[in-house]
Amino acid sequence: MPVNLKGRSFLTLKDFTPDEIRYMLNLAADLKAKKRAGIRGNLLAGKNIVLLFEKTSTRTRCAFEVAAYDEGANVTFLDSKSSQMGKKETMVDTAKVLGRFYDGIEYRGYDQKVVEGLAANAGVPVWNGLTDVDHPTQALADILTLMENTKKPLSKCKLVFCGDTRNNVAYCLMYICAKLGIHYVGWGPKELAPAADVVEYCREVGKETGAVVQYGEDKELLKGADALYTDIWASMGEKDKIPERVKLLTPYRVTGEVLKATENPDCIFLHCLPSFHDFDTTMAASQKELGYDIREVTDEVFLSPNSKVFDEAENRMHTIKAVMVATIGNV
Ligand code: CP
Ligand code: NVA
Repeated sequence: MPVNLKGRSFLTLKDFTPDEIRYMLNLAADLKAKKRAGIRGNLLAGKNIVLLFEKTSTRTRCAFEVAAYDEGANVTFLDSKSSQMGKKETMVDTAKVLGRFYDGIEYRGYDQKVVEGLAANAGVPVWNGLTDVDHPTQALADILTLMENTKKPLSKCKLVFCGDTRNNVAYCLMYICAKLGIHYVGWGPKELAPAADVVEYCREVGKETGAVVQYGEDKELLKGADALYTDIWASMGEKDKIPERVKLLTPYRVTGEVLKATENPDCIFLHCLPSFHDFDTTMAASQKELGYDIREVTDEVFLSPNSKVFDEAENRMHTIKAVMVATIGNV
């Protein structure tokens, strides 16, 4: 059956079949080649989209904006400070209003229920730009980057997420790996193990796709990885957890030694970014003053030839463009 995603919201990869996910990845690769060839398109011409951000962003916001402009759409950006959203008006009413103006709505915030509520009430596709428990556009970019860096079929690849294995980025990677038959490992402390229902869901999907889903503290789990992935130790809204996280996650910092433990010289390093890989940000420096080294990865890895983090960041734009074109595009 040909894939048709017109009118669909993009809230979590759990809602999409393996074929639908592969369709978005292939579309993203085509759109990337088109952009590289200098071709500007009109696949979103005449469309108006609105970007709602209750948390801060560099990549996701810019990816949506540039992707929209490249294909001819108009963009409005709203955050909680400059709009009524959430304070004087419920998200349900906001959705009903914005659905009258716009062809698509992006939302970044806290509770997954909010993005689901928007989708249920807007009458137009809603795209999840990150919640506390998911970040589906990120996972598409990550797997596109893996595809660009391996000769193996994805079903023969192994991805190891190191650190806070129950955060939003870890979960969206678990979902996409399960759907595409990729061997997924969460390497981190038992205190931050993925929730049982998430593991159970992914293992159930894995029965169909061949994906193996593992997690644990054993360094042996790193062996044979094609991609090592990490994320910051305290996500947006979790600053107060830094002391506890540094204690729990320091053994899982991605160092040269951890990369070596994969026993794969071609293993790539991925990170959603932003990253604490040195002390050159005010956050990393001020935490260091307080006695906390919050680096989840060292420069030895972050700046190494194995690191594909900036290709990955670029791929945010191509994959987000694919999601918009697939769901509201003029094709
Ligand atoms: N990776 C990511 O979502 O980055 P931003 O927070 O900058 O959007
Ligand atoms: N886990 C991080 C991802 C940032 C893109 C956060 O939620 O802050």
